[in-house]
Amino acid sequence: MIGTDSFSRLGFGVTGPHAGLGAGRGMTTRLIHQAVDQGVTFFDTGPAYGKGEAERRLGAALKRLPRRSAFVATKAGIHPGGYRDFSAGAIEMSLRDSLKRLQRDHVDLLLLHGPAADEMTDKLLRRLDAFRERGMIRHLGVCGRDAELDRAISLGVFDALMAPVNQSLEPSQIERLERARSSGLSVIGIETMAGARRASGPPASRGDLWYLARQIKRRLRRDPPAEAGPPASEALRWALTRPFCDSAVCLTTRPAHLAANASLVAALEAGEPTP
Ligand SMILES: NC(=O)c1ccc[n+]([C@@H]2O[C@H](COP(=O)([O-])OP(=O)(O)OC[C@H]3O[C@@H](n4cnc5c(N)ncnc54)[C@H](OP(=O)(O)O)[C@@H]3O)[C@@H](O)[C@H]2O)c1
Repeated sequence: MIGTDSFSRLGFGVTGPHAGLGAGRGMTTRLIHQAVDQGVTFFDTGPAYGKGEAERRLGAALKRLPRRSAFVATKAGIHPGGYRDFSAGAIEMSLRDSLKRLQRDHVDLLLLHGPAADEMTDKLLRRLDAFRERGMIRHLGVCGRDAELDRAISLGVFDALMAPVNQSLEPSQIERLERARSSGLSVIGIETMAGARRASGPPASRGDLWYLARQIKRRLRRDPPAEAGPPASEALRWALTRPFCDSAVCLTTRPAHLAANASLVAALEAGEPTP
């Protein structure tokens, strides 16, 4: 498990719109700096987002701040061209390239990005352990959503799971996250607000256009539509009051939403009524 004082309960995802035209570089930088000002120390990114652009933006924005202010998680296994390769050699190359883009000599958490159970091979696990020994990574984790996480839990080598935490979870998925936590893994929630109700109407920002394009892409691929969920504040409160959930990484393109999310988490931590 990663010490709970190592990262903030609210994480900021530098992904999606922050890896391309959905948010300009200036907006991504301003939001990262605002997040730090509002107590966020946990940043999540990965090489697959915008062919490395998200990592470059995060690295450049953090470079202007004191290093101790950030806990940086990145991923490996889905590569900048979008192809999957969990071989030990590919993961090593991916980590080395991520460190260059992030302008760091280590990452705080390296997450395997959606590996199948049989892709977590002994050879890969030995290589990951060697990275840790060399100080290139502090902690190891797996990002996923289903039964492959059972193998990650049982291997006993990972420090963290990143997985959806929202009110649409099946009881079996909740049981898995509880088991992960009681087996000593930190649980980092994603998709906490993915089904949150949004104001209807035409897109009002570049970020909105990005979300709309993603929705259309999903429809064309015939993916099941995201279920409508509770408002964002209720969704975030629900996730962070699950006893198994250590942190929730949220994506936003709006300073006002970041401020609202940070205030809610600050109120929860202080035991005050939440907005
Ligand atoms: N989803 C995945 O498959 C996946 C996989 C690996 C890692 N992750 C990590 O998880 C992070 C979160 O992404 P997610 O896909 O799980 O999305 P999410 O954070 O659950 O939801 C993001 C959506 O919520 C909206 N939002 C945020 N705060 C809000 C507020 N206070 N009020 C109203 N709406 C609000 C955002 O819109 P605005 O921009 O308008 O605020 C955006 O449309 C990613 O950035 C990444 O770091 C996700």
